[in-house]
Amino acid sequence: MKFFAVLALCVVGAIAAPLSADQAATVQSTWASVRFNEVDILAAVFAAYPDIQARFPQFAGKDLASLKDSAAFATHAGRIVGFISELIALVGNESNAPAVNTLIGQLAASHKGRGIAPAQFNEFRTALVAYLQANVAWNAAVESAWTAGLDNIFGLLFAQL
Ligand code: HEM
Repeated sequence: MKFFAVLALCVVGAIAAPLSADQAATVQSTWASVRFNEVDILAAVFAAYPDIQARFPQFAGKDLASLKDSAAFATHAGRIVGFISELIALVGNESNAPAVNTLIGQLAASHKGRGIAPAQFNEFRTALVAYLQANVAWNAAVESAWTAGLDNIFGLLFAQL
């Protein structure tokens, strides 16, 4: 039992290599330029992956263009994108690691309960990165900082889904 607990810690530890100060600053500054585009970001995710939209009971089967203007869509977008903002605010400071784990644990639990598989989270990630590429000043350093940050978050998430 003890062996498995230690092994689990090693696996999580190996996945979650902390971002360098530069990488954390890069992720935070690029995110700051789009973080309030909540409706645009969720709409881009739904447009790229209609199978994600189909999992939302309120939005399944509805026309995205008109949905985008609704208050319900803005509220949901605010929750989902706001959650990402909470996580990003915590990166770059090792003492925030327990808070990051708690948040990701909540995300995993609530989505596991809804039967959302890692493959759909990967789709979400792909759409989010495509949005960033199109809307922030993107270059190799920005890409590698986001890749490191998202690898950490998704590694922790997938270990609990
Ligand atoms: C990193 C990616 C994601 C984040 C940060 C995220 C975050 C959230 C948050 C904060 C909520 C509201 C609180 C809650 O009910 O748990 C939520 C609800 C929900 N999420 Fe996600 N989510 C993500 C990916 C996904 C994906 C990929 C799907 C489906 C394929 C999905 C489906 C849902 C559904 C169905 C709800 C409930 C909506 C409702 O109340 O009607 N989420 N998500």
